[in-house]
Amino acid sequence: MKMKRLDHRFIIQKLGGRLVNREKIIVIDFGGQYNQLVARRVRECNVYCEIYSYKTDLEKIKAMNPKGIILTGGPNSCYEADSPTCNKELFELGIPVLGLCYGAQLMMHVLGGKVEKADVSEYGKTEVLVDKTDSKIFKDVSDKTICWMSHTDYISQVAPGFEIAAHTADCPVATAQNEEKKLYAIQFHPEVLHTAEGTKMINNFVKNVCGCKGDWKMDAFVENTIKEIREKVGDGKVLLALSGGVDSSVAAGLLSRAIGKQLTCVFVDHGLLRKDEGDEVEGVFGPNGQFDLNFIRVNAQERYYKKLAGVTEPEAKRKIIGEEFIRIFEEEAKKIGAVDFLAQGTIYPDVVESGLGGESAVIKSHHNVGGLPDFVDFKEIIEPLRDLFKDEVRKAGLELGIPEKLVFRQPFPGPGLGIRIIGEVNAEKVRIVQDADYIYRDEVDKAVAAYKAEHGTAPSWMPNQYFAALTNMRSVGVMGDERTYDYAVALRAVNTVDFMTAEAAEIPFAVLQSVMSRIINEVRGVNRVFYDLTSKPPGTIEFE
Ligand code: XMP
Repeated sequence: MKMKRLDHRFIIQKLGGRLVNREKIIVIDFGGQYNQLVARRVRECNVYCEIYSYKTDLEKIKAMNPKGIILTGGPNSCYEADSPTCNKELFELGIPVLGLCYGAQLMMHVLGGKVEKADVSEYGKTEVLVDKTDSKIFKDVSDKTICWMSHTDYISQVAPGFEIAAHTADCPVATAQNEEKKLYAIQFHPEVLHTAEGTKMINNFVKNVCGCKGDWKMDAFVENTIKEIREKVGDGKVLLALSGGVDSSVAAGLLSRAIGKQLTCVFVDHGLLRKDEGDEVEGVFGPNGQFDLNFIRVNAQERYYKKLAGVTEPEAKRKIIGEEFIRIFEEEAKKIGAVDFLAQGTIYPDVVESGLGGESAVIKSHHNVGGLPDFVDFKEIIEPLRDLFKDEVRKAGLELGIPEKLVFRQPFPGPGLGIRIIGEVNAEKVRIVQDADYIYRDEVDKAVAAYKAEHGTAPSWMPNQYFAALTNMRSVGVMGDERTYDYAVALRAVNTVDFMTAEAAEIPFAVLQSVMSRIINEVRGVNRVFYDLTSKPPGTIEFE
């Protein structure tokens, strides 16, 4: 059988199948930290949006026929020789352009205005005074509005043809505009939620200035994608590695609705899933579930525990878990024989982070178990979610009828409990961490639900990720009249926006106490429970 070696970058580039005539905004990325946020805000206006590096050829941008262009912020000073720049012609295409922060300064600089370094930076929530209240960008925005500033350079003189549309106490040009040419330069960050009326301003740009209709909606996406998949796949066969995570589950749901039994999903239960999770995935996608597809569950628990016996080093464990997945997936693929398509749950942030989209390329250091098999006999890759952000994937999942529990799952690492058990992994330790983690999540979920019932909102301490881990420490305790020598379980809960930095969540002590008491009483082999107070950095969210 002919097997195909996959080049990961090639795969991402090779994919297509997008709707070409979709009305579209292009975000040009100058390396700022909020760039994906800009695109998300545009999408929240129901307008499709893609991010491209500032190095992207102007001809390519023209060919995409965007309804509008947004230039993002960035860390440089536009007047320095080697700073990222753009072609003056970009502003002469007749396409509306909105520059944000660095993008605003660059627009002024390129068009003949002046940008200088200020004596002091302007940072944080700042009152912006709108001078041109009839500006299209400020429609329905208050005259005095709180905006998020983060800059040291400032526009000291607007470019010819522009007028000042807003200012602050320290910044003479908070917004400059040339309404006739549909060019807007905004010094602050409307994409950040600290800018009270930022969403309104972005909506004004895409609807009032660019004239977008706003018809990018999830029900339409699901319907169109199902149609596209049918056209592309024809009567071909598709193979998908299903992890039970949100992305691969939604991909499976979409493909199933499009092509039914032409889809085969391989679900590898590596014995490092959370309690009952394997059965839950099988419940949704297996023969008694709600989707029409071929479902293969590989129960590889023993195989994994054997491979992991005696291995204590975290990276070595990660590697074994990842590689074993690939071997198992290949074995299953060989049994199935040649397929036409290999499906993947790649989502838009993966595309941007792989360096093919925007400028702020961060190559992820974590790869899901899953990853990519090296040798599988297929002709083409299909990635039905590659245009979507995570929240959009979730919306698509709900649209497809995937249970909320699965759609709103908290992040779970590919190597699973393997990296939440410090030291050697074995079946007994997996049982302990599964049971402790189940109790912990159950108690936190109950406390959150009770708070919501009383207050109508989630508590401020509501963690973004929370789980139990098993330390490798055993200590002396007493249970009844007996001396014990058992394991310590660590509870972790963090508040984070981007998972790059995090704070320990302030879970009420009473909740922690009930978790402790239940774990000690219900989980054999545990006699101590710790709460991890460490922020990230210096800690990481996971333990290994
Ligand atoms: P850390 O531990 O690096 O975690 O602070 C940040 C986020 O990434 C998840 N994580 C992983 N995800 N494979 C994954 O798919 C991994 O090896 C991995 N390690 C950490 C972690 O759960 C958190 O959300």
